[in-house]
Parts: sequence; structure tokens; C-alpha cells
Amino acid sequence: MTATSVPSLRARKRRLGAPPLVMITAYDEPTARYADAAGVDILLVGDSLANVVLGHEDTLHVSVAEMAHHVRAVAAASPRAHVVADMPWLSYHVGTEAAVANAGELIRAGAQSVKLEGGAVRRDVVRALLDAEIPVMGHLGLTPQSVLAFGGYKVQAKTRDAAKLLLEDALVLQSEGVYAIVVEGVPPLVGSQLTEVLDIPTIGIGAGPDTDGQVLVIHDVLGLTKRAPAKFVRRYADLGSAITEAVSQYARDVRDGSFPNAAESYDNPEELLD
Ligand code: KIV
Repeated sequence: MTATSVPSLRARKRRLGAPPLVMITAYDEPTARYADAAGVDILLVGDSLANVVLGHEDTLHVSVAEMAHHVRAVAAASPRAHVVADMPWLSYHVGTEAAVANAGELIRAGAQSVKLEGGAVRRDVVRALLDAEIPVMGHLGLTPQSVLAFGGYKVQAKTRDAAKLLLEDALVLQSEGVYAIVVEGVPPLVGSQLTEVLDIPTIGIGAGPDTDGQVLVIHDVLGLTKRAPAKFVRRYADLGSAITEAVSQYARDVRDGSFPNAAESYDNPEELLD
């Protein structure tokens, strides 16, 4: 089975009649397998791994090695969907050579492209990655790796000047050759303007309905997060409650002796019965 290619994703503009891109995060083989079976276009091994899987407060606490470990697990599902891996904080901020080596680690682990946060300031890094034949997805707006600089998770591009800067950043990323841009936490008007101006697809998360695609964190979608979900999340299942209910039933069955029963036990060999 051939995975969804970068050129086919780059062409997915809704104004050209393409259907919206569907992207969701995955961090392990089973979720990648089930999400792929649902027909998503892109699986993102996001650095949200730090929050939703490893229990940290922000995305700053995950390393390239940890990301690669989870990329390997997602790639083990051999998904038809494209696998993009987040470059974690500090993996592309301290020189282009280090950035290429770090991105290479994620590609060797099974990713088909990498995503990084920031606009014009990332120009050299994007160029170096593309020179090394590594496709790059951009990420603008409420970039979670900037949480300390932003002073929290705050909607971005709320003024005319800030929106103009965001647009300029997006144009720089496009001219450098990124194949798509995630736009997070911006007013819907900014999401639609960016989508109109760019020739590459925009993938929104909290950016309104007009982007070329949408992305959500799978733990938010399935109801597995400890915090109340953000405004832009739509929860499609409550697996958290389902897990607690199933494990409580198991605990009850063990404690009252009803698990395991005969059908759940091996047959005793004749010889032992003698
Ligand atoms: O890490 C992540 O999950 C992300 C999405 C929020 C786009 O970058």
C-alpha cells in the first residue's frame, strides 16, 4: 500500500475542488491503525505527545529520541495516511545542521515529512531541510512551543498588524517550499484570508471553518484528556469513562471470583487429573 504523498497533499486546495484534508494525531500503533482505517489523510505524531501521553503541562518536555520512539510505533501500522512528525522544541533552533540531523532521525523512524513552528525566522531551517530532501509542513498562530513567550495559550493574530505579520510569515514559508501550513488559534477571518491568499493548503485547529483542512488531537476527540477541552474541540466519544467502566467491571469480577471462568482457563491434561 502506498502512503499518501506530499505532492498529492500539496494539491489539496478546496478552492480547486479538493475535499477538505483530515488530519489527526497518533502516537502508537493501535491508534494509528484505527485512525487510518477511518480514512484520514494525515497522521501527525505531534509533540502534544508531551501533554496527552506523557502527562506534562506543555509540549516543551519531549525530545527527538522520544518523538522518534513514537514515530516508529505509528509507522509500524503501515498506514495509507501520510505520517508527519513534529520537530520538538530545540531540535531546530540551534543551527541548521542539527535541525537536518534531528529531522533525519524522525524520517528514519518512519515519518514522511516533518512539521515545525514559526514563520520567517525559520527560513534557513526550512531551506536546509528541503535541501536535504525532507518535506516540511509549517505551523503558525498559537504555536504551543511559544507558550512561555506568549505568556499562555492565547488566540493569536487578533489585531490588523498581527494578522498582517502572520500572513507575511505564511507567504515566506510558502515561498521557501513548505507543502502545507497548520494554522492554530486564530480568528476565523484570519484562517479564511490565509487560505485565500496561499496556494498551498492550510490545516486549521481553532482557525474556523474555511481552511483547507482540519486537525485535532486524538485524545481530545476520544475523551481521554484530563483537562476540559479547548473551545475548538469536538468530542466524538467518551473513551475515558468507557475505560474506567470496563476496568471496574474486571476488578469486580476478579474480586468476586467470577473471572476467570472455565472457558477462560486451559483444559487440565488427563495425566494431571490422575
Ligand atoms: O502537537 C500537536 O498535536 C500539534 C497539533 C495541535 C496541530 O501540533
